Amino acid sequence: MIKDFNFYAPTRVVFGRESEKKIGQLVAANGGQKVLIHYGGGSAERSGLLDVVRQQLREAGIAFCELGGVVPNPLLSKVREGIDLCRREQVDFILAVGGGSVIDSSKAIGYGVPYDGDVWDFWAGKATPKQCLPIGVVLTIPAAGSEMSSSCVITADEGLLKRGINSDLCRCRFAVMNPERTYTLPPYQTAAGATDIMMHTMERYFSKYEDMTLTDAISEALLRTVRDAALVVMDHPEDYRNRAQIMWAGSLAHNDLTECGTEKDFATHRLEHELSALFGVTHGAGLAAIWPSWARFVMDKHLSRFVQFAVNVMGVPNDFAHPEATAERGIQAIEAFYRQIGMPTSIHELLGRDITDQEIDTMVEKCSRGGTITIGAMEVLDPQAMRTIYHMAR
Ligand code: NZQ
Ligand code: ZN
Repeated sequence: MIKDFNFYAPTRVVFGRESEKKIGQLVAANGGQKVLIHYGGGSAERSGLLDVVRQQLREAGIAFCELGGVVPNPLLSKVREGIDLCRREQVDFILAVGGGSVIDSSKAIGYGVPYDGDVWDFWAGKATPKQCLPIGVVLTIPAAGSEMSSSCVITADEGLLKRGINSDLCRCRFAVMNPERTYTLPPYQTAAGATDIMMHTMERYFSKYEDMTLTDAISEALLRTVRDAALVVMDHPEDYRNRAQIMWAGSLAHNDLTECGTEKDFATHRLEHELSALFGVTHGAGLAAIWPSWARFVMDKHLSRFVQFAVNVMGVPNDFAHPEATAERGIQAIEAFYRQIGMPTSIHELLGRDITDQEIDTMVEKCSRGGTITIGAMEVLDPQAMRTIYHMAR
């Protein structure tokens, strides 16, 4: 079966060395006259990137104001601060300088500025965004794929609720990507980013729609490429060629290309979001801690997919007489890869301590919205299944 699809990827990608020198003309071409430069905790200031951005805007005669301090797993409180600032300063364009956290914070501000009610209404399911300020991105970490995605994931400070919403309104006008700007990434962030990129592809590859072989081939090539490139850049952080593969893959993995004809599962993501909400862990690392357990939980019912993954992606020899053994070796191979790049393969490794039964119950409660929703598509998971996977992963 091939699922019908509607592919929309409107973001202009400006890729390569010195691409950030085109920022002024890109903002002007998108009508920006008063810009909010939004950024994170300091890496963009330290690397000199923010100075380049400011200089480019000044040269283009574009006024701007600034708001830094976005934390990983971005918070609603910062979004509210940004909305107030944009209204006061009459901002008409947001320039996100950073990664998924800064981009998602920008998207949320973009939704909030033209909205009369409380911006959290969108994540609480009380309202649907009707407008969003235009957003451009200078990407500094390939990981979340938010630069081309329709998602916006925010954590409400109170109750630590981490939730995502999707709308084409927040798709970025442009994304400037210079792989050299990722040389300064700490190894852990590089590895977590590669894990997240691969997972965005795997969440669409593991699907009950198995007949779009072109999409499978794109996904498999993307997965092999990111795995191989990640292994290189862990030892050679300034390897442009491999940084470039990862950066481009990060956008393609989450702009829905790898979903053409298949279906989003995203159960691992939903399970992980509870980990990063509760413990503040890095999203990609949380995914590595969960995925092998999810895979073992669902594998028996979807054996042919897991065999295809093992053989075509992880290079496992096909033991035709024992498909379940081939599938299991594929999972073991990705666990070995995670260990090689310093990613955890269990919650214990992720947190550095045992997780309690009570903490698991809290995550199940939040993930299932108090037992009212299921997650996943290839295999639908009810609260009991969620609990079992957390226990397997602990
Ligand atoms: O804050 P600074 O100082 O900039 O440091 C950041 C941050 O600590 C650092 N960093 C970024 N670029 C750097 C750098 N350090 C040195 N050199 C550079 N060039 O890296 C750390 C992580 O940054 P962050 O933006 O949090 O990373 P990522 O892109 O992984 O974003 C994670 C967030 O995105 C959400 C995640 O849940 C999480 O909240 N996601 C968003 C998605 C979307 N909107 O489509 C999809 C994803 O599945 C994900 O859920
Ligand atoms: Zn992700």
